[in-house]
Amino acid sequence: MADSEFIPTSEPVLDGNELKYLTEAIKVNNWISANGPFTQKFEKEFAKWVGKKYGVACSNGTTAIHLAVTSLGLGPGDEIIIPDFTIMCSASMPILSGVKPVLVDVDKYWCMDPTKIEEKITRKTRAIMPVHMYGNPANMEAILKIAKKHNLYVIEDACAAHGATVGGKKVGSMGDVGCFSFYASKNITSGEGGMIVTDDENVANMARILRSQGFEKPRFIHRYIGFNYRLTDIQAAVAYAQFEKIDKKIKRRQEIARHYQKLLKNVPEIEIMQSPPWGKSTFWMFGVLIKESFGRTRDEVMALLNEKGVGTDLFYLSMSLQPVFKNGKNPLYPDISRKYPVSQDVALRGFYLPSGLGITKSQQERVVKILLSLRVRGARIIRPTYKREDERGVFNEILNGSEWKNISLGSMKKGAVMGNHFHKKTKVFFFLTSGSAKVDLIDVKTKETQRIDIEKGSGVILEPKYSHAIRFAENSDFVMGKSIEYSNSESDTYPHIVPVVQ
Ligand SMILES: Cc1ncc(COP(=O)(O)O)c(C=O)c1O
Repeated sequence: MADSEFIPTSEPVLDGNELKYLTEAIKVNNWISANGPFTQKFEKEFAKWVGKKYGVACSNGTTAIHLAVTSLGLGPGDEIIIPDFTIMCSASMPILSGVKPVLVDVDKYWCMDPTKIEEKITRKTRAIMPVHMYGNPANMEAILKIAKKHNLYVIEDACAAHGATVGGKKVGSMGDVGCFSFYASKNITSGEGGMIVTDDENVANMARILRSQGFEKPRFIHRYIGFNYRLTDIQAAVAYAQFEKIDKKIKRRQEIARHYQKLLKNVPEIEIMQSPPWGKSTFWMFGVLIKESFGRTRDEVMALLNEKGVGTDLFYLSMSLQPVFKNGKNPLYPDISRKYPVSQDVALRGFYLPSGLGITKSQQERVVKILLSLRVRGARIIRPTYKREDERGVFNEILNGSEWKNISLGSMKKGAVMGNHFHKKTKVFFFLTSGSAKVDLIDVKTKETQRIDIEKGSGVILEPKYSHAIRFAENSDFVMGKSIEYSNSESDTYPHIVPVVQ
């Protein structure tokens, strides 16, 4: 791949027996719909690989979760405990089954925090559903202990973590039911696809019935409301070919993560994904969190990476921040009034770097080089920390917990330059309420230069010892403040001509 080519976040690698088995499904078996020879082989061998007796394949990971919830008999009046930081189907599938999700904050490995579970258990709680997030295994030993004490089912969402382990046991094998996804970006894929695994024959049988319209014998007499969540044998042929290489694919993901960890080891502006001490991550995707000291917001970093040819993807948004739960009136919607500080912090600062199985070491190095070049030194871009818009108008809170002096308001004409000086001690905040500007910065010591673009609704905090010039790209209005009070006789301003780049 040429240096300028776009590096995708993830692409499936189909370099095994996929075509051969597809041809076999069509030409030899003549079986392309559900429950054919490839599906049966895949269910049996995948379940055994995980460490469970029964596998029931289905159309995707979301339907796997729905089957897990319903096959265990959860329904109206029940509650299920899920992490706040997760994908929507952790909440939506229980809700569709009449079950109320109850949220629990996550730990620093982005999985359900077991120390916060017990306070959420009520007489209605029937199950806990930890999510093994982005390949990181949840703290299963602690979760299983709580489940046992309170006689609760455990459904493991291992959709994105095939092969992650806790104490040598694979995720999906430790709870009552394990759920997996075979979506295109996953460790193994059939385009779309999923499976539940369990040791309980009754649960497996019920999942087979519900997966297929609730059909039993005699076929059209129904005792249950079921779905059509069947996997086709075409998909199973691809999944089985992928499965033959699963261990190799997982090793490759772990290698990719190790290389990123090495490249990003001494970068204080970024927090990187780590395997938890209680288990081994597969690093399905390599996640990073942008710290305030990076100088830019997570969304800006992602947009700039995309501009420079690096694909990324956002972290999931916490359930407690979902508009549907904020605005909706359904009593089954989770209570989002409590605090979920870790989840919300991770969700708003996190994204993942290109982590597909096809990525090369030199592409990873290019990704990191571009990422690090986006750090801003001597300044930090600010955006409103709180925004409210209602019939009364708009309210933007732009600075939290800071004390500013010498507050100024101003209007500048297009092309005007402000600044061209530096301060030895003073921090400056500068915020545009209209227009746009380019901020040129020179490190007085190293002479390193940087440029930041800001526009209406954003601003910068400028550190001392960086010479700054603000060039207005349009007629603009601003608010400015200083960290130190200036008087007529005393000011911490020193001239320094910044070459203003046109
Ligand atoms: C943790 C988790 N659970 C569930 C799912 C849903 O799987 P699917 O996309 O196959 O429906 C995903 C998909 O990315 C996931 O990451």
